[in-house]
Amino acid sequence: MKKFTCVNDIGPLDRALELAKEVKTNPFADSALGKDKTLLMIFFNSSLRTRLSTQKAAMNLGMNVIVLDINQGAWKLETERGVIMDGDKPEHILEAIPVMGSYCDIIGVRAFAGLQNKTEDYNEIVINQFIEYSGRPVFSMEAATRHPLQSFADLITIEEYKTKKRPKVVLTWAPHPKALPQAVANSFAEWMNRSDYEFVITHPQGYELSADFVGNAKVEYDNLKAFEGADFIYAKNWSSFIDATYGQILNIDRSWMVDSAKMQLTNNAKFMHCLPVRRNMIVSDDVIEGAGSIVVPQAANRVVSAQVVIREMLKAL
Ligand code: CP
Repeated sequence: MKKFTCVNDIGPLDRALELAKEVKTNPFADSALGKDKTLLMIFFNSSLRTRLSTQKAAMNLGMNVIVLDINQGAWKLETERGVIMDGDKPEHILEAIPVMGSYCDIIGVRAFAGLQNKTEDYNEIVINQFIEYSGRPVFSMEAATRHPLQSFADLITIEEYKTKKRPKVVLTWAPHPKALPQAVANSFAEWMNRSDYEFVITHPQGYELSADFVGNAKVEYDNLKAFEGADFIYAKNWSSFIDATYGQILNIDRSWMVDSAKMQLTNNAKFMHCLPVRRNMIVSDDVIEGAGSIVVPQAANRVVSAQVVIREMLKAL
């Protein structure tokens, strides 16, 4: 595998899930594979889970790991070509990327959507520049439009907890005080559409996601109706994708929070969220602390998804 930015890069999902089982059963089986190899993790944005789980995955494979926080101690990077660099950014990403590539064997990149320019965000300018100019295999640790390591971990988790072959999985928008990218929701939808689940997306009017990601999912504007009979509730906030209001918060309707009354409508559903989560905005305390909450094992599976991806990249070096 030379790049991992979306579901198509992992190959057939049945095989990916088999690899995940292998890695989870024996996480140190390939501890010699990464000997004398270096993973460089580059963060343009903050992280807890992605940073720790990806580093742990690389360590399980015997790799050395370097972490660079672009906004803490590195030169600020200009990302656009043609700009007269007379501002506060002393280095251009087009020099920085091949230099970074010269120090490592594999690169992971986190670069969120700026939410200012939809075309720029959906063209995935930063991660695509790493793919083009680093000379190294590159994987996404959440880019502008997708978070594939998260979605892969989500899929692994649903497979572990499902009690029927074709569960009803509901992605529900939930309120949040800040404008967030669509990446997690897009990506989750992309992976669910590739799986054989009954997949429903529910959100207020105006929060429609790109049709490219919604795919064959059923869109249900009635939040309570969407919850009926659900086996998994996946909560996430996202900002507007619509051109005129791109990246904006349209409302903070607290009635969309996931609470125990709504969970009563489900088929004893498991509650999922990628974390970090704002309690009593996105989900009530009792739901996230309840027996049906699987957010911690979901986060733990981030090591597994990262290890599968890095292992495939190491094998292809
Ligand atoms: N879910 C997730 O990617 O968490 P972090 O932002 O903490 O890495």
